[in-house]
Formats: sequence, C-alpha cells, structure tokens
Amino acid sequence: MQARPFDAPAPTRAAAEPIPSPPGVPVLGNLLQLPRGRLTQHLTKLAPSFDGIFEIDFAGLRVPFVTSATLAAELCDEKRFRKTIKPPLSILRALAGDGLFTAHSDEPNWGKAHRILVPAFAQRARRAYFDAMLELAGQLVDKWERSAGAPLEVSEDMTRLTLDTIALCGFGYRFDSFASAQLHPFLQAMARVLDETMGRLTRHQWLTRLRVGANRRYERDIALMHALVDEVIRERRGRAQQPRDLLGLMLEAVDPVTRERLDDANIRYQVITFLIAGHETTSGLLSFVLRLLTGHPEVLARARAEVDEVLAGGRTLQYDDLARLEVIDRILKETLRLWPTAPAFAVAPFEDTLLGGRHLIARDRRVTVLLPALHRDPAAWKDPERFDIDRFLPENEALIPSAAYKPFGNGQRSCIGRQFAIMEAKLALALVLHRLEFEDADPGAASAVRETLTLKPEGFRLRIRRRGA
Ligand code: HEM
Repeated sequence: MQARPFDAPAPTRAAAEPIPSPPGVPVLGNLLQLPRGRLTQHLTKLAPSFDGIFEIDFAGLRVPFVTSATLAAELCDEKRFRKTIKPPLSILRALAGDGLFTAHSDEPNWGKAHRILVPAFAQRARRAYFDAMLELAGQLVDKWERSAGAPLEVSEDMTRLTLDTIALCGFGYRFDSFASAQLHPFLQAMARVLDETMGRLTRHQWLTRLRVGANRRYERDIALMHALVDEVIRERRGRAQQPRDLLGLMLEAVDPVTRERLDDANIRYQVITFLIAGHETTSGLLSFVLRLLTGHPEVLARARAEVDEVLAGGRTLQYDDLARLEVIDRILKETLRLWPTAPAFAVAPFEDTLLGGRHLIARDRRVTVLLPALHRDPAAWKDPERFDIDRFLPENEALIPSAAYKPFGNGQRSCIGRQFAIMEAKLALALVLHRLEFEDADPGAASAVRETLTLKPEGFRLRIRRRGA
C-alpha cells in the first residue's frame, strides 16, 4: 500500500516529521539493497543508524520498521493499533486463508475460532499432551543416540520433532518423521511455499508473474498441503468419538457467542495454520538453543545440573517437573530475545495518528515491529548482544519494560500456542541434556541464520555422544 502522509487532517500534518530511511534509487527505492533470504538480518543491522524507526522503500511501497521499546509500547496499545494482514501474511492467505494467524481481526471467523480453540491450550489440555510430547522427544533422543559420532543436521531433526508433536497432540495424526531419511513431502512443499512467499516480498510483482514454472510449482505445493490436511480431517470425521484435542474441538465445539460451529473450509485453514505456526518457530527455537549452549559451556553445565537433579535416581520426567526447570526456562527466554524465531509482527492504526509525537501514520497504514532489533534496543537492554540468562531471573525480569520483549507478539493477536511451545521445548531440551553430550561438528564455522517466514540456524550440525559413553 502506498503511504498517504498528506491525506491527514491539517493539525496532525503540521506536527509531523518524515520517517527517516536509508538512501535508495528512483522507482525501485531500497529494493535492490535488500538481500534475498537475509531481509530481517539486514534490517536489524540498519537499526542502530536510526532512532527507533526507519522506513524501507520496496519499489514505491514504503514500510516503517520500529525497533525501540518506547515506540513499540505505542504500537502495542490495542486502542490505537491492531494487527494488519499485509505481505507476507496476505500472500500466505493463499495457503492458510482465514485461519487464526492470517485472519483479519474483524473477520467473524477469527473471533469464533479464537473462542473455540483457546481451551485447547489451557493448562488442563496441556497436561493431556504431555505423554505424546514425551514419546516424540524420546524418538529424537533415540535417533541421536543411534547416530552417535556422525554430524547431525540439528534444524532438520528439530523440524521432525515439532511437526510430529503438533500433528499428534493437535490432530492425533502421526507423520512418523523419524522413520524416514527424507523430510515429509508436506514439509518439503511447505518450505518451498514459504520461500516463494518471502521471495514475493523482495521481488517486483511483474517479475513474479513471469515465473510461470515456479508459480505452477507453488500452486501444486499448496494443493498437496490442502490434500493432506483434507485426509487428516476425513479420517477424524470417520471416528465415532472425537478426542478433545484441537481437531476434536474444531469439529464439535460450538462458539459460546454465535452458537455456531466452524465451517469445513475454515477447519482446513486452521489445521494448515497449526501445522505451520505450530512447528517452524519451536523448531528454530530449539536449534538456536543448542547452538547458543555449545558456545556457552557454563550455562550448559547449569542447565544439565538442574535436569540431573530433577531426574535423579532414574526418574521419568513428569508434567509437574516442568515448573522446576527454571534455568531451562530462562535459557528459552534469552534465546527468544536474541533469536525471536517469528521475527516481526505488523499493526496499523484505527485512525491517523502521530507516532512518538512526530511521525504521522495514516489510518490502516502498516507499521512493522522488528523483533531482533527491538530485543537489542540499547535503551532497554544492557550489553544487548550478550547471551545472559540471568536477565530473566524473576527480580530482573520484573524490570523489563513489557514492550521491549515481544517474541510471541502482542495482545489479543499474540501467540495462542505460547505455553504449548515452551512446554514442548523444555521437555525436549531436558531429555537431550540428560541423556546426551554434544559438540559443534563444525567449530569455527560462521553462525549463519536462514530466513523463511521464520529464523533458523543455517548449516548447524552437532556431533553427539551418549552421556558417560
Ligand atoms: C517458539 C515458538 C513460537 C513463537 C516464537 C511464536 C510466535 C508468534 C507470534 C510473534 C505471533 C503473532 C504474529 C502476529 O502478530 O502477526 C504468533 C501467533 C500465533 N501463533 Fe505462535 N509462536 C510459537 C509457537 C506456536 C505454536 C506451538 C503454536 C500452535 C500450537 C502457535 C500458533 C499460533 C497461532 C495460531 C497464532 C495466531 C494467533 C491469532 O492471531 O489468533 N505458535 N506466534
């Protein structure tokens, strides 16, 4: 969407200053400076040259990025701003339609699905997912034990774990990813669709139209993913009794406000949404955690001592033990500070408004909160590049301004699966630390980050050994 800074009422306009931006070229603006597959990292590097906000010109589409906690606090005020569905999320609607993640807040299906699905993430429901999570984390550790000595692609196996976990806990469906050397065709299709979605962000529209073969592949991939989801739903509809998991609720529960159920098309979009939103980010989180721990042996030792104490005497991990894993909890929080695996969210004002008292943001104009830069805002974080889990000791955490740390987004559109993700990551990490030793298989290699819609360590491999072996 084009910026419309001069449509605003006169009093607001008079007070406004333009949003600064890096120098660009006529017509294409900053487009040619934006590295394909490295957009978030590029923008994060730009942030220190500006004062908490800058604007990027994507060939005429000017998008402001906010990186300071002070301005983010304004954007998190839900009386002034709401989530907006613009690229890449609007592009993703081809796949995920009006599922929770890509729905407009005022679409009736968002409220309906939100009210129906919140109970699936409450404490009682999470307790019921525990055994399935434990079984799948056990499959990961078993595989890694069997592969002792050989370099292991960490992100690939974390993706197997997290996809299998959301599918089994959410829909009673087994991908059995650890049984195969290849990633499941669903995952391969998803990776290509997300790649194309991001490619369309930094490519001019007419170039996208010319890529006939790639566009056909994109359509085929989307069809493949929809077909798999339709099969999962068909299989479940055939059962006499529905388990009370995500899909059970989608098929049977009635919205307490409208007294309606979700329709079939929306259920398909929700299942796709949960398969995507429910695994990419958690897989990235677990991979970053292991990369950070290989570089911080003293933190690794603290975490391992904690797990060993909880599991002393050969106990099996129980749901109630998770609350005792405080060091691991802080490791997860600090990892999400440095590497928020869903790296941005976008909002727009209900009405024309002055941001920071000086920049006019016209009604419905998108502003993006750039999380890796926000989480390094020097006004909110001391020595921001340092991996320091004690920032999240309760007495320190209480002092963090709430808008300085937003790895799960904001307000009513924040992550519905936050507790699920933390539970899954804690549990997997506890098992890995308790049973395995690991070291970086490529010490000295650059710590690259791969970007799709999410962030993941790139080419990160570990060499594993059973503890005590
Ligand atoms: C470390 C893991 C995760 C991170 C960092 C993360 C991050 C986020 C963020 C930042 C948002 C807000 C996006 C926006 O405003 O546009 C979001 C929304 C969402 N997340 Fe997560 N997420 C994670 C795990 C999960 C899991 C495990 C699930 C499902 C089981 C999930 C399901 C969703 C859904 C459905 C939404 C949309 C909610 C709505 O708008 O109603 N996420 N997540």
